[in-house]
Amino acid sequence: MDMGLRNKTALITGSTKGIGKAIAVELAKEGVHVLINGRHEDEVARTVSEIQAAFPSTSPQKATGDLVDVEQREALFEKYPNVDILVNNLGIYEIMSYEDVDDEVWEKYFRTNFLAANSLSKFYLPNMLKNDYGRILFIASEEAVMPSGQMPQYAVTKSMLLSLSKSLSSLTRGTEVTVNTILPGPTLSENVQQIIEGLIPDDTMSFSAKEKQFMKATLPQSEIQRFIKPMEIGRLAAFVCSPYASAFKGSPIRMDGGMVPTIF
Ligand SMILES: NC(=O)c1ccc[n+]([C@@H]2O[C@H](COP(=O)([O-])OP(=O)(O)OC[C@H]3O[C@@H](n4cnc5c(N)ncnc54)[C@H](OP(=O)(O)O)[C@@H]3O)[C@@H](O)[C@H]2O)c1
Repeated sequence: MDMGLRNKTALITGSTKGIGKAIAVELAKEGVHVLINGRHEDEVARTVSEIQAAFPSTSPQKATGDLVDVEQREALFEKYPNVDILVNNLGIYEIMSYEDVDDEVWEKYFRTNFLAANSLSKFYLPNMLKNDYGRILFIASEEAVMPSGQMPQYAVTKSMLLSLSKSLSSLTRGTEVTVNTILPGPTLSENVQQIIEGLIPDDTMSFSAKEKQFMKATLPQSEIQRFIKPMEIGRLAAFVCSPYASAFKGSPIRMDGGMVPTIF
């Protein structure tokens, strides 16, 4: 299906790996010129080359920088003052017990998972409204609506994104701009794969056997009993960014493998 995205420009934050990279690849597949972001110049350059080779009719560009840092964000705004699509994917997560989450950790999560996304949205939204076209997409988590208690510092920041998404959506009334949020469930990014390998350090087991064991023991509520593939989130994100998804306004869109047990 042609999603009608050819020649749009998209900034995907945190797109050298994992879900962000998969979203960038799926958008490039649709003819979108993607701006690749991460803190490491070599990884950004490698991702740009890979996407350029795979989708030669597009012009992927480097958007290197730590987007938690105000000056580096401003440098990015100067370099790329306009985008049609902004995917706020960048986010950090780790299992922590509540008593270990001190103010410094709260602040780090707030700045990384919320404030960076808010600042980027605040900068790019006005021109989208002026152009009467644009997409802002937040990547939250099932933890936003179903905090497990295993990472309170993370769950709070992901709930905040849902609220921000709805507030920003209310500013788009009567326009072709949309602001939405995807809530992925457990997804097999390189980072998650490393965490599983660390939890089950058995050289004789295949990764697929480790995945089955982990799912059964730790995530029995997952109805798919496997990790979601980053590409699955990427494809959904490309659709939500497309003109066919104009009626999604301020929506929380779950692709959680059945993790959340409620109807809504
Ligand atoms: N994986 C899951 O199970 C899962 C489930 C639900 C939601 N999510 C959400 O999905 C998003 C992506 O997760 P993921 O697992 O794909 O993450 P990941 O594998 O850790 O990838 C993170 C990406 O962000 C970049 N990055 C990190 N800090 C940055 C910063 N300050 N400025 C710019 N780039 C930065 C990383 O590159 P550098 O390190 O080189 O900068 C990398 O490209 C996150 O928001 C996460 O909360 C993930």
